[in-house]
Amino acid sequence: MATERSLILIKPDGIQRRLAGRLIARIEDKGLKIVGLKMLQVTTELSRKHYEEHIDKPFYPLLEEFITAGPVIAMVVEGPEAISVMRTLMGPTNGREAAPGTIRGDFGVSRQMNLMHGSDGPEAAAREIEIYFDGSELIDYEPTLGGWVCADDEK
Ligand code: RTP
Ligand code: MG
Repeated sequence: MATERSLILIKPDGIQRRLAGRLIARIEDKGLKIVGLKMLQVTTELSRKHYEEHIDKPFYPLLEEFITAGPVIAMVVEGPEAISVMRTLMGPTNGREAAPGTIRGDFGVSRQMNLMHGSDGPEAAAREIEIYFDGSELIDYEPTLGGWVCADDEK
């Protein structure tokens, strides 16, 4: 089992709908550790870097318009298998198909305005963390309750 880091965004719809606190709480409730966090405005250049795999897709122009329409909160979240744990916590892309209990299932009905981004694999996570964060912005600390979140052989 690997301790992983994932790049998480609260997208502009999450900020504008004043859900940021509740969405961050879902990450904390799960027992994952936030090691970096900041608010920023995504520019068209940053959007093209982040979503480079989607640039040629028909939905890219709308995606770019959406992700640059207001500020986002970017986080680096760490924990055992944090990448897949976060994807499961968020649910599938389309909020209409996401099960109740998942973030997208509980808070949304849209395929585009789906509240959060989470890296989809280790390579994407490393690439995306580097796009959004300088190494000096990530904080390595030992959470006081860490020993009660999972066993030593799960870390
Ligand atoms: P994300 O990258 O944001 O975590 O979402 P995801 O992996 O679940 O979905 P992905 O396929 O990577 O798509 C990236 C974002 O583009 C928007 N989208 N629109 N109109 C469409 O067909 C469509 N498909 C995707 C969504 O905002 C999606 O999260
Ligand atoms: Mg994706």
